Amino acid sequence: MRQSTFDFDTVIPRRGTESYKWDYTDKMLGAPDVLPMWVADMDFVSPEPVLAALHQRVNHGVFGYTAKGPGYYAAVRNWLQRRHGWSVKDDWIANMPGVVAALRLAVDVFSNPGDNIIVQPPVYYPFFKVIKENGRKILENPLQWDGRRYVMDFQQLEQQLQKGASMLILCSPHNPVGRVWERWELEKLSHLCIQHGTLLVADEIWADLVFPGAEHICVADLNPEAAANTMTCVAPSKTFNLAGLTTSSVIIADAAKMRRYQQAIATQDLGLGNILGMTAMQAAFDHGEPWLQELLLYLERNVAWAKDFLRRRHPRVGWIEPEATYLLWLDLRYLSVTEPQLTEAFYEKARAGVHMGSKFGTGGEGFVRVNIAAPRSLVEEGFAEISRGLTYLENNS
Ligand SMILES: Cc1ncc(COP(=O)(O)O)c(C=O)c1O
Repeated sequence: MRQSTFDFDTVIPRRGTESYKWDYTDKMLGAPDVLPMWVADMDFVSPEPVLAALHQRVNHGVFGYTAKGPGYYAAVRNWLQRRHGWSVKDDWIANMPGVVAALRLAVDVFSNPGDNIIVQPPVYYPFFKVIKENGRKILENPLQWDGRRYVMDFQQLEQQLQKGASMLILCSPHNPVGRVWERWELEKLSHLCIQHGTLLVADEIWADLVFPGAEHICVADLNPEAAANTMTCVAPSKTFNLAGLTTSSVIIADAAKMRRYQQAIATQDLGLGNILGMTAMQAAFDHGEPWLQELLLYLERNVAWAKDFLRRRHPRVGWIEPEATYLLWLDLRYLSVTEPQLTEAFYEKARAGVHMGSKFGTGGEGFVRVNIAAPRSLVEEGFAEISRGLTYLENNS
């Protein structure tokens, strides 16, 4: 096997660092002593050029108000061009602290209280929150299982669009089901949204974590009409494990929409970026690609290991091949148990800090989401705990 130039195997202790993933399982999952495999961050150190840039910035020692210079825009622009073949202009780019904050602002700017907003569950659950907490209504267009993979239900989508929806929030690639949408799927989705006057808001935070065999397509890049009707969210936070530095970007090609969005950024005083977040993002986008290539190989091997482990130990677990993300979406419906039973088995009978499927809405019941972005030894420890939970359920249900 080829030796990796980068070290993804060393376990870096994170307990006691106020890590959301490691230190808050009690608060967030109601499970104080589990091996965390829930929230989507990685147990890996960020790439060396990112650390070097941060050290240099910290050594300077002055952290006053700092603008987004040409380097910021060039980093985003070049990244999207190099990795995804999408040419964006500087004035299409706005900075936001995080993607969820960007989505929340989009709901505020591009819809009115009481409007319908479409989501495709099971899906990243803050989508529900940003709609409901803004006084908008959720219209569901649940994904379907076609016997091979999850697909969009376009027939039902048309019915939902006919009810009138100001926006559709797309997860592309999709968390938690791991789909990378194909060109024809995105074309159809984008076309339907345009036809019905529904803005497409594409959360593409997972765009860089795509496995061989699939290719991420930026939906706004399909054609000029799609560009005019899409707002896209991108970030280095999943790709380079920088979520704690709260820096993301919004891309809007339509000048009138961008003006409205920028106006809202100004009104809410969100315009200034985080110095360290911007420094890290630039270094990651400019110099992080070799690390990312190795990371993807490591993640792929973790996925393969988990698949083999489950096949051997628990062959009835429904395996859904992830085309992207570092999240496994495991179908445990063969157990015919309720979610409280799953919770008891994983959190009390074992120490498996997985995410319960129902969090992700319709279609999530009976599933769990498992984060495998960790050194192999931790993944193995985690799956030993998952196995204990499954064995308990297999013997007691
Ligand atoms: C689809 C999706 N969007 C957004 C986020 C979070 O983005 P941020 O931390 O920038 O708010 C996540 C994190 O898991 C995610 O999976």
